[in-house]
Amino acid sequence: MDEGKISSMISSILNGEEQGKESIFEFISHVKNDSISQEYVVEWLKTMHQHGCTNLDVIHLTTAMRESGATLTWQSDKPIVDKHSTGGVGDKMSIMLAPALAACGVRVPMLAGRSLGHTGGTIDKLESIPNFSCIKTPEEMKTIVEEVGCCIVAQNTSIAPADGRLYALRDVTNTIDNVQLITASILSKKSAEGLDALVLDVKYGSAAFMKTLEEARALARSMVDVGNGCGIKTVAQLTRMDEPIGSHIGNALEVLESIHVLNGQGHEDTKQLVVLQGGTLLHLSGKAENEQEGQEMIRHVLENGQAKNVFKAMCIAQGVPIDTAEQLVSHPEDVLPSSKFETLIRSEITGYVTTFDTMKIAQRLRSMGAGRVQLSDDIDHAVGLIIHRHVGDEVKKGDVVLTIHHSVALSEEEQNFFSMCYSIQNQPLRATPRLHSTVS
Ligand code: URA
Repeated sequence: MDEGKISSMISSILNGEEQGKESIFEFISHVKNDSISQEYVVEWLKTMHQHGCTNLDVIHLTTAMRESGATLTWQSDKPIVDKHSTGGVGDKMSIMLAPALAACGVRVPMLAGRSLGHTGGTIDKLESIPNFSCIKTPEEMKTIVEEVGCCIVAQNTSIAPADGRLYALRDVTNTIDNVQLITASILSKKSAEGLDALVLDVKYGSAAFMKTLEEARALARSMVDVGNGCGIKTVAQLTRMDEPIGSHIGNALEVLESIHVLNGQGHEDTKQLVVLQGGTLLHLSGKAENEQEGQEMIRHVLENGQAKNVFKAMCIAQGVPIDTAEQLVSHPEDVLPSSKFETLIRSEITGYVTTFDTMKIAQRLRSMGAGRVQLSDDIDHAVGLIIHRHVGDEVKKGDVVLTIHHSVALSEEEQNFFSMCYSIQNQPLRATPRLHSTVS
């Protein structure tokens, strides 16, 4: 691609005009083949990041990146659905949602990511299950989904490779945080799955990437418009992310909590989010008449063991030996890695839990090994914590509020941090629902 064409695309961005489908497809094909000077790509990225482009160009960028790699096509009449979350603390939804949806008769070819910043990644969580393999080709994904109903696989270079190249450049040129670039990046991969319906969990609050409701709404609006523009029925749910989701945080511990939910138990906060997301997808895909009916269907398969059976089948199809998978769902503690140390954090006063310093908790667990600082870092799957008293709960002096799971003895400073990472007041706070509103 010559300099003149790139200059013309850049002028169009600066003038608020369309770059056009043909130019964007040609540009992305050069990015994929690495046949364009990096200098031009960075100049284009910086201009896009600073000035933004037209809505139609975001759709062209999304489809061009999707077409840069393999796309899944489906013969079956079962709807194909998925969910994307912008990342939270204790966000383990996919582990339960994919099998629950499959148990309700839709198909879920889920591509998921690894830990990013302070947030965990579904792939790291699943890799705490011995032998669970998240590395699958598009053909293998199709086979598993056709046999089991769902799979959860790591994003890889077969799907939207141009996005992989652009993302790596965005990472080193400070051009990640742009709503249109994020939209095209996420939706290029999701639309490569051949989806009929997609629910987006866009989080806002102190422990989310989007700190304010306005920022979250702008991202949701952009992703919903582009998702629908790509022919996928797309709805975004704006959910609060200032308090950890459910009771367990950390890779193996989040799988443990997920298995509790798949056994009809587990924390109501976690269960409600799975039910909310699943209900919306069953409605969008036409499997349920309305969201209420969809939610009842999801609750039913979580309670009657059908979702658990699909989860077990997915584990087996993704490499877990049959007897390990059986034991995983019946006695998960015997299969999942456990930490060398457990430290109980007790309340020093009586009252009601009002807040958790969720961002700091996540950053602390990350530095203790639960997440990565660099992409090449190993994860310590056993590190994490369990919350025994949640926001709104009454607590008496001496009650255990948290159990910290760690591999190295806690320093005095760490012990103090965990004793101070929540607050207790005389009066309970009124519970605020996770879901603020939807964008459709
Ligand atoms: N996740 C992605 O896949 N792409 C982005 O741009 C941001 C988050």
